[in-house]
Amino acid sequence: MLSKTIGYGLSGLEGFAVSVEVDISNGLPSMDIVGLADTSIKESKERVRSAIKNSGRKFEPHKITVNLAPADIKKEGSALDLAIAVGILKSSAQIKDAPDNIVYIGELSLDGSLRHINGVLPMLISAYKQGLTNFIIPKSNAKEASYIDGITVYPAESLKQVIDHLSGLYPIVPCEKIDFTVESKAKLYDSDMAYVKGQAVAKRALEISVSGGHNIIMVGPPGTGKTMLAKCIPTIMPDLTFEEALECTKIHSVAGYIKDDEGLLLTRPFRTPHHTATMIALTGGGSKLRPGEVSMAHNGVLFLDEMPEYSRTALESLRQPLEDGVVTVSRASGTVSYPANFMLVASMNPCPCGNYGSHDKICSCTPTAIAKYKAKISGPLLDRIDIQVTVDNIKYSDIVSTEIGETSETVRKRVNRARLIQRERFKNDDILTNSDMKEKHIKKYCVLSNECEKILESSYQALGLSARARSRIIKVARTIADMSLSKDIKPEHILEAVSYRRMES
Ligand SMILES: Nc1ncnc2c1ncn2[C@@H]1O[C@H](COP(=O)(O)OP(=O)(O)OP(=O)(O)O)[C@@H](O)[C@H]1O
Ligand SMILES: [Mg+2]
Ligand SMILES: [Zn+2]
Repeated sequence: MLSKTIGYGLSGLEGFAVSVEVDISNGLPSMDIVGLADTSIKESKERVRSAIKNSGRKFEPHKITVNLAPADIKKEGSALDLAIAVGILKSSAQIKDAPDNIVYIGELSLDGSLRHINGVLPMLISAYKQGLTNFIIPKSNAKEASYIDGITVYPAESLKQVIDHLSGLYPIVPCEKIDFTVESKAKLYDSDMAYVKGQAVAKRALEISVSGGHNIIMVGPPGTGKTMLAKCIPTIMPDLTFEEALECTKIHSVAGYIKDDEGLLLTRPFRTPHHTATMIALTGGGSKLRPGEVSMAHNGVLFLDEMPEYSRTALESLRQPLEDGVVTVSRASGTVSYPANFMLVASMNPCPCGNYGSHDKICSCTPTAIAKYKAKISGPLLDRIDIQVTVDNIKYSDIVSTEIGETSETVRKRVNRARLIQRERFKNDDILTNSDMKEKHIKKYCVLSNECEKILESSYQALGLSARARSRIIKVARTIADMSLSKDIKPEHILEAVSYRRMES
């Protein structure tokens, strides 16, 4: 007898329905899975066989053929186990009257229990867009699935529970919808801006950078607080919107970072890849086409501490995502794109000994050594870093001062206000922050007075800037203007933005 069930597959962040056709006929006992299935699905034969037996059902010694359609898309992973098992049980008349419109997602254990699947959230979102609204998924994925409106999700712990549900014996209670709220997370962090002494310029630069989503590099001698400041970034990041949280969670779900019983990401990602990270680790790819660090940092921060320590190839691979906000990874069977709109935060010393340019310490490096060190960050990469700020040694009196600085909570309130202004501005533009602006947006929202134009022109000549740097300065100036609630970009805003391009001078 022939049966059909619906399973689901993923290609990048896009899901596709898989029609699982099972035919059981007389013949030598065998089980074949056809339709461009990779080895992990071929292994599902053994899992399905044992799971059915251990759920108290019969696995008849017949010829079983499983066809996964469409046949031209390669299916990988074990998420189709449940659909295949239900198909076999339907074909052998051990499940009757099951509705046809249910999507089955889940990996089976040999004992018949259902295991966590990576990528459930993007699967459900794609399926919903296709008009599919009923799902049976592993219980450990339930929370992740509970934020989507308009679908019914039945969380199951085992194949037996699915069978009992379909037969009407013990119906499963569908997941309850969870409303998305972001509670204030600031209090959960160990770091706080208030603990960082001095460094007023760097703090201001960080606030600008977070407010508008601009890339930033902090340059300074050892032990001045660069890493400490960077660790404060999560404490001043703006709240995630629901759409942003969904986008981030989709990526983290595909990468397998959403563990059992976890729901949506509620805080912006802050990724800190080690300096031995390879190009593939940063931008994604490999045999499974996994998202890389740049995509994991989508809507958040990618922090490269001691930037010159990273390999040149790894650093250069950031250029394309930094420009486009997406990465495309390819392999023989096709290409997938992942969003990668992240804020780059980097730190470095000004030279190998760390003291170059210091007011009170002497640099012991040769000019060649300094040049070589600086050259590790290529011109095109530096060009994409909007804010370049010096973090210098602090005065002893500042270190021992008992004065408490501004807290992260206060800064975060201002950041949220600046983001709100941007959201309002771009509500019909499909972008979120000033740093996302393309030329057409700059033209529309960053009209410059003659005086502003003159400042830009002279800095362009004096600092030898590129056209890209010019656009980026204007975007930073827009953020500075927003922070001071100014509708127009004023000369002082442009001047401050230009002052952050000091490494190019
Ligand atoms: N501005 C500061 N205010 C308070 N404490 C500071 C400051 N700067 C440094 N410190 C103290 O020094 C420690 C080291 O600072 P941090 O790791 O941020 O330095 P760094 O600039 O990243 O140095 P390196 O270039 O060696 O990485 C901090 O954990 C903190 O205890
Ligand atoms: Mg450091
Ligand atoms: Zn030096």
